[in-house]
Amino acid sequence: MALDMAARSQSLDDRLSKRNFDLLSKFIYDYSGIKMPLNKMTMLEGRLRRRLRATGMSSFDGYCDYLFKHDGLASETVYLIDAVTTNKTDFFREPKHFDYLVKTALPDILKTYPDRRIRSWSSACSTGAEPYTMAMVLNEFFATSAPERDYFILATDLSTDVLQKAQRGIYASELLAPVPAELMRKYVMRPADPRRQEMRVSAKLRSKVGFARLNLMDDKYPVGDAMHIIFCRNVLIYFDKPTQQHVLSHLCNCLLPGGYLFIGHSETVTGFDLPIRQVANTVFQRM
Ligand SMILES: C[S@@+](CC[C@H](N)C(=O)[O-])C[C@H]1O[C@@H](n2cnc3c(N)ncnc32)[C@H](O)[C@@H]1O
Repeated sequence: MALDMAARSQSLDDRLSKRNFDLLSKFIYDYSGIKMPLNKMTMLEGRLRRRLRATGMSSFDGYCDYLFKHDGLASETVYLIDAVTTNKTDFFREPKHFDYLVKTALPDILKTYPDRRIRSWSSACSTGAEPYTMAMVLNEFFATSAPERDYFILATDLSTDVLQKAQRGIYASELLAPVPAELMRKYVMRPADPRRQEMRVSAKLRSKVGFARLNLMDDKYPVGDAMHIIFCRNVLIYFDKPTQQHVLSHLCNCLLPGGYLFIGHSETVTGFDLPIRQVANTVFQRM
């Protein structure tokens, strides 16, 4: 017990050395594409403290030796990556994209492609607000404009932690605040106990979204048939230019001609050689 307490207080006070920071930041960059410049050292230290406790390590030196000298990466990578990804997301984030989807992209896709099922992909889905927003919007669209057609959404992320949360589909009520009242009534279940501040996305909506782990750094994206719609929003900002080019080229390979790519409002494709043309602010169509 005394030893345990000593180890704990040591881990709380322990600091990440520059040498260990360099090792970690190189690994994180190589594995996930996420840039980890020196000004993120305090952030990384804070986020990894929990991993020190979880692995029973009493210092960052011990943790980094375990990772890089004793094969700890094999079991620790998933948790290390969970700890360093930034997962901020919202329902109906950047709402103009959803307007464009309904008013322009979907009618155009239905005209071009006779497929019964339209395939859509949220490629950095975080805890699920983006794919479930897509599902609400697509469900409404198909019910009113094309009941003979259907849709399916693939939602992927690198972090297993967010994927588990997304699969459960349970959210604090504040996060659901941007969902219009009518869609809340249709697609979000109120808790049996009204004192609980959490709500769950309906089973119907959950059944339309399939979650999987996919690293956008990989050389192959095993997503099956090419997509009609891809969202890759608010993740390119964490990558440098060569990684952005890699990711965007691979996403284009997964998009049907005439299919639509949506990126975040603070992201750009300027300067990249890609088979897409801009059709609206941060919306592109595959050529
Ligand atoms: C800020 S969230 C964006 C969520 C959502 N797209 C949105 O706009 O609200 C960024 C997400 O990208 C994921 N991510 C970071 N690097 C990744 C990679 N190499 N492959 C796949 N996902 C990654 C993170 O785990 C995180 O969930």
